[in-house]
Amino acid sequence: PKPPRTLFICQNCGFQTGKWLGKCPECEAWNSLVEEVVSPEPPYRRTPDQVAVRSRPTPLISLSPSQEERRPCGCREFDRALGGGVVPGSVVLLGGDPGIGKSTLMLQVLDRLSGSGFIGLYVSGEESAGQLKLRADRLGITSARLLVATETCLENILKLLDSEKPHYLVLDSIQTLYAASLPAAPGSITQVRETAFQLVQLAKRSGIPIFLIGHVTKEGAIAGPKLLEHMVDTVLYFEGDRSHTYRLLRTVKNRFGPGQELGVFEMRQTGLAEVTNPSALFLSERSLEAPGSVVVASIEGSRPILVEVQALVTPSSLGMPRRQAAGVDAGRLSLLVAVLEKRVGLAFGNQDIFVNVAGGIRLTEPAVDLGIIAALTSSLWERPVAADTLIFGEVGLTGEVRTVAQTEVRLQEGAKLGFRRALLAKGQRNQLRSVKDLQILEISSVREALRRLF
Ligand code: TYD
Ligand code: MG
Repeated sequence: PKPPRTLFICQNCGFQTGKWLGKCPECEAWNSLVEEVVSPEPPYRRTPDQVAVRSRPTPLISLSPSQEERRPCGCREFDRALGGGVVPGSVVLLGGDPGIGKSTLMLQVLDRLSGSGFIGLYVSGEESAGQLKLRADRLGITSARLLVATETCLENILKLLDSEKPHYLVLDSIQTLYAASLPAAPGSITQVRETAFQLVQLAKRSGIPIFLIGHVTKEGAIAGPKLLEHMVDTVLYFEGDRSHTYRLLRTVKNRFGPGQELGVFEMRQTGLAEVTNPSALFLSERSLEAPGSVVVASIEGSRPILVEVQALVTPSSLGMPRRQAAGVDAGRLSLLVAVLEKRVGLAFGNQDIFVNVAGGIRLTEPAVDLGIIAALTSSLWERPVAADTLIFGEVGLTGEVRTVAQTEVRLQEGAKLGFRRALLAKGQRNQLRSVKDLQILEISSVREALRRLF
């Protein structure tokens, strides 16, 4: 065999080159190329005659539909993020910052599954058996069907699978795994790619669902992120604000279900608790009738969530006033400020603007536009919006307010939480027969919205 050689490999996308470059020509990441030892022949590259029997093409119409089997884990918020449950043979990547609660979440999921009679194997390369036991005690885990192993060598893990025959496998974390057949260091993109590749093959072959835990690097992505995300079936991100106890489980990709779901948890002394009514949680700390605070109805995945949007508009002492957005897109905020200036004639030119979404939620839907507009104006004018008013609608560049999808669900959630009025775009009243307890204020422009609110 040829001697091992080294290549420079982009740790973001896997691009390979013989010489070092400051910027990856493939994914344009800076300083992402790292020199790695690569084996002359990747073990999984097969010669043509080794390729398995080719399947013959069949007319599409003659195929019988396969029902994607889905097994709920018994943890509603986790199942929700997965699109209803785990699909046998699927590989799920769970990413997130260190300390956010990934290990806790996966231990609790395995514990739930073991309650239904399934054997779960939790392989940790991060912690010692003693540390795992400490956490398990804190979580109140007593099942004998939850097995743990501290192992980082892929070949040994495969042997464990043979001997223990678990129904579910968790690997904590992908960055600590290594295949002994490769010279590269654990956590390098070569190892991440090879171990992930073998695990995906294993899951497909055996039908065992595999959960891979991955650490997010400070750039906000998993080491080898693009690569891993393409290889696995489902990508979940666990995120949250350190100063808060909420944790959000966000679906980033799902081959077997909706690609944008949101599970909500709360971190307690005894582990993660499911939050079945997130709106109530997010609104629980709301300062009623304070200028700059409004409640918007946003759709996150398949359900409506009500959240408080706060704005603080204050005279600036800087030549370049500050525009700071947390939880909403900064570009969108600039656009909405411009609409208010141009179409309504408000002056934000010498004001610092801060917008914040309570609870660490990120709102990406245009439906929150009207809420941001209302919060900005409320703070500028120092006049509160009535606390029982729900606001949503997309705002266009001419200052028009447009209708958004799923109006009815948003209103129902509002009525459930005691809201009495809703401000929304004109032309939906006849679709809203089922919403009885809300007074609907229909408007067609930002100007009109502000007239009704203040
Ligand atoms: P952990 O699951 O170790 O995070 P990760 O695997 O993502 O690095 O969770 C670590 C944090 O969670 C730690 O700061 C302590 C806290 N925690 C609780 O508040 N309650 C609990 O019951 C547990 C197990 C952890
Ligand atoms: Mg951990």
